[in-house]
Amino acid sequence: MKRYKIVLVGGGSTWTPGLLKSLCVKKQEFPLEELRLYDIDKKRQESIGKFAEILFKEEYPELTFSYTTEKRAAYENVDYVFCQIRAGGYKMRLLDEHIPLSHGVVGQETCGAGGFAYGMRSIKDMIEIVNDARKYSDNPWILNYTNPAAIVAVALDKVFPNDKKIINMCDQPVNLLKSYGKLLNIDYRTLLPIYFGLNHFGWFKHLYDNHGIDLVPVIREMVLKNGFLPADAKERDQSWLDTYGMVRTILRDFPDYIPNTYLQYYLYPEYKAAHANKDYTRADEVICGRERRVFDECARVQRDKTAKGSLIAKNEAHADMIVDVAKNIAYNGGGIFVMIAKNNGVISNFHRDAMVECTAIVNNQGVMPLAFGEIDIFTKGLMENQYAYEALAVESYFEGSYKKALQALTINRTIGDAAKAKAILDDLIDANMGYWPELV
Ligand code: NAD
Ligand code: G6P
Ligand code: MN
Repeated sequence: MKRYKIVLVGGGSTWTPGLLKSLCVKKQEFPLEELRLYDIDKKRQESIGKFAEILFKEEYPELTFSYTTEKRAAYENVDYVFCQIRAGGYKMRLLDEHIPLSHGVVGQETCGAGGFAYGMRSIKDMIEIVNDARKYSDNPWILNYTNPAAIVAVALDKVFPNDKKIINMCDQPVNLLKSYGKLLNIDYRTLLPIYFGLNHFGWFKHLYDNHGIDLVPVIREMVLKNGFLPADAKERDQSWLDTYGMVRTILRDFPDYIPNTYLQYYLYPEYKAAHANKDYTRADEVICGRERRVFDECARVQRDKTAKGSLIAKNEAHADMIVDVAKNIAYNGGGIFVMIAKNNGVISNFHRDAMVECTAIVNNQGVMPLAFGEIDIFTKGLMENQYAYEALAVESYFEGSYKKALQALTINRTIGDAAKAKAILDDLIDANMGYWPELV
């Protein structure tokens, strides 16, 4: 069995410990020769790097491990680049969420004006990462889950068109699958999802069990009756519980498909904005919660010199998905995942160049989507709107166009008003000075 070399870009992320654990748990099925962590922030990288050294000494002693802030040391001679950066860090996530809310509209890191701001910051770094990886390695696979994945996927496809070795993905469909599994008391890995839409803007049309029975109607009835919780509800902050709870509202009004939770921002933007705490958003919650927990725990593990029993070294659906995708590429597995891919007729009555999210096989050719067929007029209307937003946002970036940025925000369902869009855009331009291209 060939053993692989991976670099994890954004190694100082709060998601890294979970991924490290998943690599440990799956070392028989996806054996690594080497793992490197790379980050531009030395302090964060060192903290997680030292934690990793202790974890691997205990659970993966045969692995060659290093962490670095040097590009060459990071990218040289790797098979896979896993990518999870946050351009501008939490300082900017706070503004992505707070600025739109101060104008009375949804403030979310990936949807609406916040997602726009984050996207405009991420594109440059993502292009640089692909170029660096290819400079120092022989065309490695790039598995990207940097947000906003929708904007990043559209932008990367513009610069590296139809490049099968650049793969964008999101874990929310699998997080939801896991939660349906819990609800039904079955192993979610036995469910075959038929999923369609755009990233953070999609639906499960069918969920087939081992006997070929579609469980969508059963799940719908259960959620309508009892509500909906994430599989790991006990570990979730309140905002995530609220988010999962909104699935019931969406299903009450739009019962045809089971929605991705992110649709709450597009279907009920007024409710979401009105019920948000302008002074304490999800970013504040993460800074006071996950971030503190992860870095405090890294320090503790260093002090105690053991990672045994550490609660942050826990493989979750998110990390398992990334490792499973890499494994299916490496060994031509042909497993089924919900992935982001160029539409190219997958949804037959939708733009061929859209980056859609859909059911796909993953093997040594990368992501091979399954044909979906036609979408109905309501869903198509929503998706057309979001497609236009994504396309205009990315065009605005590459053309440095203020006009297209204003069009993108005006058309976005979370805003929907040109005067508001303009005021928000002007505030975001000021806040993102030095991160965005100049818009004229
Ligand atoms: P974070 O800020 O805690 O971690 C990101 C790390 O990336 C930081 O340590 C930062 O210093 C580093 N970084 C920033 N720019 C970099 C660059 N150009 N090169 C190398 N390193 C760089 O953020 P987080 O909340 O842990 O999230 C990390 C990323 O993963 C985000 O993009 C987040 O949205 C994404 N994410 C995506 C999914 C998904 O489903 N697609 C799921 C979870 C997290
Ligand atoms: C889901 C989404 C991701 C997002 C993540 C974390 O998994 O699919 O795109 O990054 O949630 O969100 P949080 O608010 O906890 O940082
Ligand atoms: Mn996502």
